[in-house]
Amino acid sequence: MSSKKLITIERHIQEQQRAYPQATGVFTGMLQDMALAAKFIAQQTQRAGLSDLLGASDTSNVYGERQQKLDLFADQVIYNMNHDTGRVCAMASEEHDDLIDVPVEYDTGNYVLLYDPLDGSSNIDVNVSIGTIFSIHSKFSRAERGTMEDVLQRGKRLLAAGYVVYGSSTMMVYTTGRGVFGFTLDVGLGEFLLSHELIRFPEQPAYYSINHGNARYWTPGVKRFVETLQGLDAPQSRPLGNRYIGSLVADFHRNMLKGGIFIYPGDLTEPEKPYGKMRLMFEAQALAFIAEQAGGYASDGVGDILDVRPHSLHQRVPMFVGNRALVEKAEACIREHDQAWLEAYLPYRNTRAAFFS
Ligand code: AHG
Ligand code: MN
Ligand code: MN
Repeated sequence: MSSKKLITIERHIQEQQRAYPQATGVFTGMLQDMALAAKFIAQQTQRAGLSDLLGASDTSNVYGERQQKLDLFADQVIYNMNHDTGRVCAMASEEHDDLIDVPVEYDTGNYVLLYDPLDGSSNIDVNVSIGTIFSIHSKFSRAERGTMEDVLQRGKRLLAAGYVVYGSSTMMVYTTGRGVFGFTLDVGLGEFLLSHELIRFPEQPAYYSINHGNARYWTPGVKRFVETLQGLDAPQSRPLGNRYIGSLVADFHRNMLKGGIFIYPGDLTEPEKPYGKMRLMFEAQALAFIAEQAGGYASDGVGDILDVRPHSLHQRVPMFVGNRALVEKAEACIREHDQAWLEAYLPYRNTRAAFFS
C-alpha cells in the first residue's frame, strides 16, 4: 500500500474552501453531497444488470428521448440530495422539462444546481462507461425562490462544475475555478481519493472524437476540419487516433488526460439536430468550464461556449472541446467554409431570453 497521502474529496473541497474567506460552507456542502450522490449512483450502475435498473422506462424527456430507468434513478438521487437542504433556490435537470422548484416547505438558498444525471444513456445496457455532469451557478435575481433568470446564466459566471465517469474505475472530477482535480473511488473504503492533481491537456493531442455516422450531414467546414485531424490535408500531416464511444463524459475525460478534441457539430441537413445535440445548460457549460481550467477551450464553432448567452433551458449548442489549438482550427474552418450554416445559426445563438424582453 503506497504511503501516498490519502486525501478524500470531502477534505479537498474543505481545503479549496479556505481560498474563499467569505465561504459559508454551504457551497462546500453541495459539492460534498454531489460526491455522495456519485457514490450512490456508482453503486447502482455497477450492478444495474442484477437489479431492475436496466432498460427503458415508459416515459420520454423533453428531447423526445426515451428515458432509461437509470436516467430517472440518477435524477431522483441528485434531487433528493439537494431539494431540502436550503442550499438551492432552484435546480434544473436534463430530464425535466422546466425548472425544478424547491418545495415550499423548505428554505431556499443562494445556489442553482444544473445536472445531466446520466450521460451516455445509450451505453447503460451494454456495459460501456457512462457519467453524470453537474454545474453550480450563484443566485442572481432578487426573487425569493429561483427563477429562469437565476438558471440561464452564461458559463463565465459558473462557480463550479464537475462530472463523474462510471468506467473501469469510478472517478469524480471537479473545478471551482482553481484548477481541475480528479478523485478515484476506492470501493473498499467507500471514499473518493485524490488521484489526479491539477489536470492539464497535454500539449500534443492524441485523439479526436466525432460520430462518423453523421458524416453525410457535416458542413463543408466540419468536413475540412476532420480531414486535417485525419492527416489528409497535407502529405506531412500526422493523423490523430479516432475514439468515440457515445458517452460525452468518457470521451471528454480521455481526451483531457491524453490530449484531443470532442466534436458534436451542428448542421442544417439533419432536421432534428440543426444546432448540434449537446445541451448548453446540462453538458456544454460544465465541460467548457473544466476544459478552460485544464488549459483547453470549448467553442460552438463561433466562439467560447462560456460566453454564449442562454435563451432557453434546453438550448442545444454545437460543441468543439479540447486542446485550444485544435478548437481554434475548427473555428477557422467554419469561418472560411460555412457561411450558410453561420447565417442560420447566429440568429438562434443570439436569441434573447424571454426575461430580457
Ligand atoms: P445523454 O445520454 O445524457 O442524452 O447524452 C448522450 C450524448 C453524449 O453523451 C454522447 O456523446 C452523445 O449523446 C452521443 O450522441 P450520438 O449517439 O448521436 O453520437
Ligand atoms: Mn448527456
Ligand atoms: Mn443524460
